[in-house]
Amino acid sequence: MAKSKTRYRCRNCGYISVSYLGRCPNCGAWNQLVAETQEVQKVSSKATASRLITKTGGSQPIRLHNVEAKDEQRIKTKFSELNRVLGGGIVPGSLVLIGGDPGIGKSTLMLQITDDLAQNYKILYVSGEESAAQIKLRADRLGAGNSNIILYPETNMHDIRAQINDLKPDFVVIDSIQTMNEPSLDSMIGSASQVREVTTELMKIAKNEKITIFVIGHVTKEGAIAGPKIMEHMVDTVLYFEGDEHHSYRILHSVKNRFGAANELGMFEMTNQGLQEVDNPSAFFLDERLPNANGSAVAVSLEGTRPLLAEVQALVTPTAFGYAKRTAAGVDYNRLALLLAVLEKRGNLMLQNQDAFLMVTGGLKLTEPAIDLALAAAVASSYKNKAISATDCFAGEIGLTGEVRRINKCDVRVKEAAKTGFKRIFLPRHNVTPQLQQLADIEVVGVASLPHLLKLLFS
Ligand code: TYD
Ligand code: MG
Repeated sequence: MAKSKTRYRCRNCGYISVSYLGRCPNCGAWNQLVAETQEVQKVSSKATASRLITKTGGSQPIRLHNVEAKDEQRIKTKFSELNRVLGGGIVPGSLVLIGGDPGIGKSTLMLQITDDLAQNYKILYVSGEESAAQIKLRADRLGAGNSNIILYPETNMHDIRAQINDLKPDFVVIDSIQTMNEPSLDSMIGSASQVREVTTELMKIAKNEKITIFVIGHVTKEGAIAGPKIMEHMVDTVLYFEGDEHHSYRILHSVKNRFGAANELGMFEMTNQGLQEVDNPSAFFLDERLPNANGSAVAVSLEGTRPLLAEVQALVTPTAFGYAKRTAAGVDYNRLALLLAVLEKRGNLMLQNQDAFLMVTGGLKLTEPAIDLALAAAVASSYKNKAISATDCFAGEIGLTGEVRRINKCDVRVKEAAKTGFKRIFLPRHNVTPQLQQLADIEVVGVASLPHLLKLLFS
């Protein structure tokens, strides 16, 4: 690297090439490669070094058993759903990324929690997207108009750093990372190299000054490039705010957390007064369910440590054209294809000349293999035109030979199912123990295989 006097960096994604190229081989953008002189190179290599060592000097190798670790003291927000997703509250000095589609409610969430925190802490809200007046209008709607939050409409990182040094806030909100600009860098605002550089800078501020920083990042159309994905490895905690534009509920999902479990889930509802917590999501998602409808089954799924009951619907109808059509919404398409094959081969259901449509209601996405049993039950119920009892629910993974495989955390699932009012839960036979059967006021049925399930349900 030291030999070449000039190198070319893509302004879009940060890709470095030794020769000029018209099209970036990494991101495919045209005419984005710009020459960097040796000087620029020196600055950026210094930046790389300081990226690795945030505190210089004073650091020594130490034996693990001599390390004194105190439990991180947590700051609770007013949303217990958020506290759980964060692993019990905010860890001071952490850098938290909140990603999500534009308009999903990220700014609203930040305004609501910082309004509450502002009673005891100093908050700097840096907005590169909205003017102070716009934020004030929104805050008024949320009932947070008289808040102590310090608003700072700015995008220049030099100025922001200076303000942080001056004000010494406890919390900083950066809304959003894609609008922030590191002036020493020659690339476009919102480009991958800008996002990376600004994040590095924020990480240094968070760690050196013990300031908690929330960074909002929009998920871009292109996905990986310049979106929150490229900063995931740099920050302490990554939360994604998800939801369906046609539904009012929002799910906050931890994808990575250095201070707690990943895959934790928090539920909110967007109302006219901003976001509100949903205390009982299982009841929320089963609200509109028709009792005794063909093709409906309830899955007892586990998202993080939180059990969630969700309705799975299947519609199986004879194929009108040459080949059978299959769609899956809320579950993996390949999982459906596999289950249909297993149902055909092991359960003797003639599905090859049937269209099969599958969906999880409420726009939920379920990824756990333990939803297999409910999927199979829903498909079989629609195919046979026989309803499953409205008070039955299911959890279990199905293997290729039709066996029902063991799953984890059955106790949590059984309790949640009983709490939500179900009378019977079907679980893998190997999971069923006398203790489990005593756990709650619900009948626990062990299922050995797919044919066993069909026999239990439909004969
Ligand atoms: P916003 O927080 O601006 O989204 P993001 O920062 O993720 O881009 O949320 C904007 C949406 O939320 C907008 O469509 C209106 C809606 N909303 C409500 O429904 N109720 C409210 O009280 C507020 C403030 C916003
Ligand atoms: Mg916003």
